[in-house]
Amino acid sequence: MEYLKIFAPATVANVSCGFDSMGFAVDAIGDEMTFTKTKEKGVKITKITGANLTYDVDKNAASAVVKKILTETNANFGLELTIHKGFSPGSGLGSSAASAAGAAFGANEFLDKKFSLLELTKFAMFGEEVACGTPIADNVSAAVYGGFVLVRSYEPLDIIKLPVPDKLRVVAIHPQIEVKTKDAREVLPTEISLKTATTQWANVGGLVSGLYTEDYKAISNSLVDLVAEPARKGLIPYFDDVKNNAIKAGALGAGISGSGPTIYALCEGDATAKKVYEAIEATYKKTEIDFEMFISKVNQEGIKIIN
Ligand code: HSE
Repeated sequence: MEYLKIFAPATVANVSCGFDSMGFAVDAIGDEMTFTKTKEKGVKITKITGANLTYDVDKNAASAVVKKILTETNANFGLELTIHKGFSPGSGLGSSAASAAGAAFGANEFLDKKFSLLELTKFAMFGEEVACGTPIADNVSAAVYGGFVLVRSYEPLDIIKLPVPDKLRVVAIHPQIEVKTKDAREVLPTEISLKTATTQWANVGGLVSGLYTEDYKAISNSLVDLVAEPARKGLIPYFDDVKNNAIKAGALGAGISGSGPTIYALCEGDATAKKVYEAIEATYKKTEIDFEMFISKVNQEGIKIIN
């Protein structure tokens, strides 16, 4: 193979109750990346569109991952990358994760698919570390595996792919402000009470159960975050208004996507998703902040080859 083009999906991490341990992939938006094999060893980024990102191969999440894979496998070839960002860095939709996961997947195709999905996730986590200082797995595993994922353990890394109820839809609004993951992690509590922990892990169990049994009520009841959301919502203008209006319009629940500022709402069915979209749009139209929105199914297949 000499050339490959892929799509790597955006992702919603945490899903309210599952801080750093749950995520899902989005169908509607993501990055497109190309890989061209070169005789010369090493990695080079030849074009980045859609966002202003570094071409420095050690600092860009995608090229850093490709470099690590080619080095560790002692590959006798190199790869040239192009990256088209379909959504903004700093949105809370796993921008660096899409690039890092796409990079791991793409490089693996040139190595006869040597690595498993779990191994690709580990490489992609290295890209997350390059981009934001912490090797978090929730976004990258959702991009690699598709669907919903549970990061059951970090050491050793253990990812469980969860089912996606058929009628589940996501509505999301990205207020056009940037929240850096690093900053959003600095406002988090370092300790939580046993009562808070009990509520939080019970809701993770409820959400996982709801996904398996297609019990939308259980999903709705479980979309509660007592850990990150209270600490972070002050970074997102009009968060409470958006959340309350989304739920009033019929959303199963709403919360911060990853580290924000994107706010996501999960809905049962297209008709409700449309109403929730309109309610969120009306809420933000009254404000002075520009925004982008989408409605999407959950991406079930993860990264895909597009030619
Ligand atoms: N779980 C991460 C967080 C996602 O909330 O900080 C962002 O990478």
